[in-house]
Amino acid sequence: MKRISIIFVFAMLLCTVFSQNKQLPLYKNATKPIEKRVNDLVLRMTLEEKVMQLNQYTLGRNDNKNNIEDVLKQKPAELGSVIYFNNDPKLRNEVQRQSIEKSRLGIPMIFGYDVIHGYRTVYPIPLAQACSWNPELAQKASAVAAQEARMSGVDWTFSPMIDVARDGRWGRVAEGYGEDSYTNAVFCVAAVKGYQGDNMADNKKIAACLKHYVGYGASEGGRDYVFTEVSPQTLWDTYMLPYQEGVKAGAATLMSSFNDISGIPGSANHYTMTEVLKKRWKHDGFVVSDWGSIVQLIAQGVAVDRKDAALKAFKAGVTMDMMNGCYDKYLVELVKKGEISKKELDDAVKRVLRVKFRLGLFENPYTPQTTEKERFLLPVSLKIAEQLAEESMVLLKNENNTLPLKAHSKIAVVGPLAKSKWHLLGSWAAHGNTDDVISIYDGLEAELGKDSQLLYAEGCGFDGNDTSKFAEALKTAATSDVVVVCLGEKKDWSGENASRSTLALPEIQEKLVVELKKAGKPIILLLSNGRPLELNRLEPLVDAMVEIWQPGIMTGKAVAGILSGRVNPSGKLAITFPYSTGQVPIYYNQRKSARPHQGKYQDIQNTPLYEFGYGLSYTTFEYGDIKANSQKVKKGDKLVVEIPVTNTGDRDGMETVHWFIADPVCSISRPVKELKYFEKKSLAKGEIRMFSFEIDINRDFSFVDESGNRFVEPGDFYVIVKDKKIKIELTD
Ligand code: NOJ
Repeated sequence: MKRISIIFVFAMLLCTVFSQNKQLPLYKNATKPIEKRVNDLVLRMTLEEKVMQLNQYTLGRNDNKNNIEDVLKQKPAELGSVIYFNNDPKLRNEVQRQSIEKSRLGIPMIFGYDVIHGYRTVYPIPLAQACSWNPELAQKASAVAAQEARMSGVDWTFSPMIDVARDGRWGRVAEGYGEDSYTNAVFCVAAVKGYQGDNMADNKKIAACLKHYVGYGASEGGRDYVFTEVSPQTLWDTYMLPYQEGVKAGAATLMSSFNDISGIPGSANHYTMTEVLKKRWKHDGFVVSDWGSIVQLIAQGVAVDRKDAALKAFKAGVTMDMMNGCYDKYLVELVKKGEISKKELDDAVKRVLRVKFRLGLFENPYTPQTTEKERFLLPVSLKIAEQLAEESMVLLKNENNTLPLKAHSKIAVVGPLAKSKWHLLGSWAAHGNTDDVISIYDGLEAELGKDSQLLYAEGCGFDGNDTSKFAEALKTAATSDVVVVCLGEKKDWSGENASRSTLALPEIQEKLVVELKKAGKPIILLLSNGRPLELNRLEPLVDAMVEIWQPGIMTGKAVAGILSGRVNPSGKLAITFPYSTGQVPIYYNQRKSARPHQGKYQDIQNTPLYEFGYGLSYTTFEYGDIKANSQKVKKGDKLVVEIPVTNTGDRDGMETVHWFIADPVCSISRPVKELKYFEKKSLAKGEIRMFSFEIDINRDFSFVDESGNRFVEPGDFYVIVKDKKIKIELTD
């Protein structure tokens, strides 16, 4: 009897589910495959509804929560997306409710935001992250950002930025992973995995956006928004790899770039967005324009008016209009006139819907209401931010073992950054809050305050020519055993629209060090900045120097760890520090010169001050010779190379081995060497560890032509680690 009633209840349940599903339109049926749901929904949409899905407005920057009615009035219920400046799930849900309940088909909106290096738990800027050479850690940090963002109502971040950048004058160099394509590709994949996880519908994951597609980092003279000279060969050699890898890793979206790519702006470029991205790479998500980059096609001289700009951007492959007011005004008309076909429009709409379905927005359009305490600054998140800050910092100089600091010292902490919190957050700090930031001074006081005495003097401002505080700073330095000078850049000196003509710090900051030198005490220079710096005048004045970048909220703790010796520095530069700004562009993988020993600058050294991959430790590492399991290979082969590394110092430490390949002769000239792999490992003092790299000949010995086709040519190759190399012969 019992069994019969259980079967009966089960059958009834099945019937209910079945009949409910039957009543549901297919697109609302979560048991159906996403592609079927997308197709079903598009069939039901009117032309106007389709077009509205392709627009993004803003929401929240100045919105007073009490004015919510006004906010809602400004957002059509059918709108595809908003940039969500607020961090209150409640406001999001109100706006989302309008889309779900007031629109005919109940299509959820997607809420995007610039979550670049953390949401509330702000961690180091991307350029610094690359210097950690620890993509697993960067991935964990992106996962923290995703969790905080999604729980605050953000489904989609405009990150990672993977614009290879070789001119530090360009402010956006801070937002990417340095000068090397492979490094950008590896950190791109880490960020995508951290944000999206295996399933974007997870309520702690968000969709990623690869930007700025493409070549934006080639900005002429480091100026922003300008023309970029990117030959097809350089496009493929330098700029495409990170995007290609990001797409392979499943990045849901891309952002088209502002720059004019050798005559065809990124936001009107059919080749990059349609031929390559959609057709060749089969990307089935969508491309959002950059803010205003469609309407800017007029200023760039490739569109006559807004309608023309809308047509050109759409035809080239921009799916969604971010703050241009072009698609909402003109797409309906352009479709009616037949200039855009229904098929083209449907393809664009499907791309947006696909991402929304993958994010689970149709099933869970609303963000659960949680307190800030439940979602922000969780202990595990702080730990990740702290570790990433520690591992990103690069010890540039350490004469006479000035660092770590000796116990029981009198330490003068000087400089405009010593007590700053705001500037340590770096550009695009999302919802970063100075209350959460541990300043350098506070971090040192907390760690060393018991044993040592800390003194403070501001010394000078970031710029200007006020030297009135020099005397006090010098007095403070003179009464101390050691001076820690904290110099660098303000938060908004890097990032978007933040180009500088020189990589040198303002003169006042350099003068402060000259002044402090008079005290005759060891000087430790801490540098916080969003770009490589010109340090040739400062370097001789100081005993130790640490590039801390803009490390985010855990700055003080990480700095204190390094200065006290609790943490052994392990960061290495992901971008070259030139000797002087005049050397720019200078990067490790330049193409070979016709006369390698001539053609130099006559007035300065021709090598950079600090090269790509440079960084010291409190211990020392010795490299053995590279061994290969074969020195003769064929196309399609795999080969293992290894190198023993010994920690020869008296401390445990971490070392990153960079593996480069050089192809001395090729039908298209190759760079002097190219990074193909890197690995970071811990080595206890005295320990020997083997580092190895499995070379895939087709992947690592190949090159691209100007159409992006890969070739492998027989000949001699070199595998290089530091000053060691081994020859490998490739035959047909
Ligand atoms: C313009 C920037 O170029 C881009 O990186 C950013 O994502 C958008 N504005 C949105 O804020």
